Amino acid sequence: MTTYPPSAYLAPIVDKLAEHGWALQPLFAPQLLTLELAEECRKRAARGALAPAGVGRGAQQQIREGVRGDHIQWLESGQASASDRYLELMDELRQALNQGLYLGLEDYESHFALYPPGAFYQKHVDRFRDDDRRAVSAVLYLNPDWQVEQGGALRLYLADGSRRDVLPQAGSLLLFLSADMPHEVLPATRERLSLTGWFRRRGDGIW
Ligand code: OGA
Ligand code: MN
Repeated sequence: MTTYPPSAYLAPIVDKLAEHGWALQPLFAPQLLTLELAEECRKRAARGALAPAGVGRGAQQQIREGVRGDHIQWLESGQASASDRYLELMDELRQALNQGLYLGLEDYESHFALYPPGAFYQKHVDRFRDDDRRAVSAVLYLNPDWQVEQGGALRLYLADGSRRDVLPQAGSLLLFLSADMPHEVLPATRERLSLTGWFRRRGDGIW
């Protein structure tokens, strides 16, 4: 029997990212894990652990609901079994990205995000002006049975001038290059949950 490297199933998504600068993989996360992550996100919201997200970095960070209206909490290992399993999955993906794209990704940071109905995140790029460590953005969506009429798409602005709307459907993983891909979150008529994260390279130590 041939044994494949544990990350062989990740190869197609890595190839798509290399070719197009973005990749969408429906049903990426196992259904049970997606369910548990959604539950974990709601639990954190219910106990008041999610806080309004800021814009910018470090001392420059500000809360600006006119720019982004989501509430977030950063993931740390040891917080919950589901989030720990997700961090392991993302570490496999990090290694697959390094094998396929030679990106030298060293770590991964991520947060739960909850957009209340009507909340949005204006068009932006994920890489900070004063910190170029973020190389690949990864968003896992946690919303079962999302319908187009409910809004809430992630709108990607592609290099050829076209746009692509991605529905925040439970289990879907969206990857895109953090430096090159402007995107926005459109308002939705229902609560919108996700786990948003960034694979990072080593910094050059100038900040
Ligand atoms: C972000 C972001 C996209 C999404 O948090 O930077 O763009 O679909 N999120 O939640
Ligand atoms: Mn973003």
